[in-house]
Amino acid sequence: MCGIVGYVGNEACQEIILGSLERLEYRGYDSSGIATIEHDQLQLCRAVGKLSELKVKIKEKPVSGYMGIGHIRWATHGGVTLENAHPHLANSEVAIVHNGIIENYAELKKDLIEKGCVFISDTDSEVLAHLFVHAFREGCVPVEALRFVLSKIEGAFAFAAISKSNPETLMVARNASPLAIGFADEMAIVASDATAMAHLTRQVTYLKDNDYAVVTAKSCDIFNGNNEPANREIVQVKASPILLDKAGFRHYMEKEIHEQPDAISHTISAMSDVGGNLTAGIDIPSLSKIKRIVLLAAGTSFYAAQIGRYWIEKLSGIPVVCEIASEYHYRDPAATGQTTAIVISQSGESIDTLMAMRHAKNLGLDTFGIVNVADSTIAREADKILPTRAGPEIGVASTKAFTAQLVVLICLAIVLGKQNGHLDESRVTYLYQKLLKIPGAVGKTMKLFDPIRPIAHQLKNARSCLFLGRDMLFPLACEGALKLKELSYIHAEGFASGEMKHGPIALLEDGLPIVSFVSEGKMALKAISNLKEAEARGGYIIVIGTQVAVDLIDFAAAKIVIPDCEPIFAPIVGAIPVQILAYLTALEKGTDIDQPRNLAKSVTVE
Ligand code: F6R
Repeated sequence: MCGIVGYVGNEACQEIILGSLERLEYRGYDSSGIATIEHDQLQLCRAVGKLSELKVKIKEKPVSGYMGIGHIRWATHGGVTLENAHPHLANSEVAIVHNGIIENYAELKKDLIEKGCVFISDTDSEVLAHLFVHAFREGCVPVEALRFVLSKIEGAFAFAAISKSNPETLMVARNASPLAIGFADEMAIVASDATAMAHLTRQVTYLKDNDYAVVTAKSCDIFNGNNEPANREIVQVKASPILLDKAGFRHYMEKEIHEQPDAISHTISAMSDVGGNLTAGIDIPSLSKIKRIVLLAAGTSFYAAQIGRYWIEKLSGIPVVCEIASEYHYRDPAATGQTTAIVISQSGESIDTLMAMRHAKNLGLDTFGIVNVADSTIAREADKILPTRAGPEIGVASTKAFTAQLVVLICLAIVLGKQNGHLDESRVTYLYQKLLKIPGAVGKTMKLFDPIRPIAHQLKNARSCLFLGRDMLFPLACEGALKLKELSYIHAEGFASGEMKHGPIALLEDGLPIVSFVSEGKMALKAISNLKEAEARGGYIIVIGTQVAVDLIDFAAAKIVIPDCEPIFAPIVGAIPVQILAYLTALEKGTDIDQPRNLAKSVTVE
């Protein structure tokens, strides 16, 4: 998390940097700031809170100059205070912005304090500024200063630094955190992602781990970790230059919920060839190499993985395990032979998922990435990409990216089943025809806002809430609980319905809301008895299912009816009501829906 930007060129940089920070706001919103250089003087403006606070402050006291750096913060080291906001200055000589964590900052700080440095903040980042000052006082030129700083620090970082002794030079470096450099006539811009520079240029170079660069308006010298000049390709990125708006909706999340029919149909198209056959975009030799799968992801993407496991094993018979990315990264998995690692990440930048993918690569596994951001680090490093076509997702809580991930996973499951003969041709055709109906079914769920509103009104006073589901609806119950807790701050947990009697049933008390997915068919009777047990102990039962399924639960306090669909696709259609429930409950409580407290869209720290 945290977003960084740096600009050097022939235009006044304040508004350019603010424009980039707007595009990076999804990365954090604890504080923000800008530092510029003019007439050999550093100027600084910082504010606690959202970017709008900085805009107010900077209007009263603008900064000037043609080179500057900016930052949007998601706090890691040090509280949310003005002193801890970036840019950090040392001795009014150097300013830096940093994304990531300097792991050995404590010993560096101790050493620098002994040498007489005065620290203002509690952050790990401030050591960078003091190290640069030290290097320049020793007579280093910018590239030498960078080498000196990099020789001292350990950890994950992307940073940009400016020094009043070199008022036309940006000094930047990365390791594990993303950093892109964009070029246009007489200017260069650096930022955490290409979208942040899309208002200026589409010509972008991505630094690789351990790269560092000295950037001016007319030149860019990049070096690799061995201090050798490095040639990094300049690519043309597709990022939209238009800042995304809410299109009349109150929140990005509400808009993104409504965009799901499109996101799903675009993703189905991406999974099909020009003749309309499902291929998942993978050639037959690559498909037949897949004998076992490990799915790696975090948060909502992990719940998509868990649903994907049910589908892949059911439709193709290929064994699948799901691993939380941050755990897998540090594990020594015993059996890796013939395993393909499939990582799932909306942003393509979650550090846990990126590290898990690199770990899988080091273990010799083929790596596939299911990603929404086409030019993200995971998209660039995976052996193969299965794109979700959800479009930019701005709301911190994932909605359309989740259902698009599910679409990729079900398509992959069908294609694998077809390839290894687990599914015959007629079953493949049947499932594909039914899949094509899912965007329409999801479109109908948009009518659920009104019926769910009174349920959300009731839920808003709850202290806790349980979500239940069986089979492939169990991970969806966990996703429903995650959505509710991150948006409304109500404690919520998801359980497999059958697990209740093994412990969680002890939580039941009068009025405890229990949101349960119910399905038709052989599991229905089991769900009824599990829910009866909960109702007998005072649970306030809310059921979600098709009309036939919810009609079986005549004792439910509230019913949410989803459109009919082939049962195997129920997790996709069933995802929408839990998103709406969480959204409307948060609306009732007045929480910050698009930027819930303590969260950020792209989690680039471990
Ligand atoms: C929750 C949510 C997060 C992300 C998680 C992984 O609504 O969005 O749990 O799913 O941080 O992010 P990606 O998919 O970008 O790797």
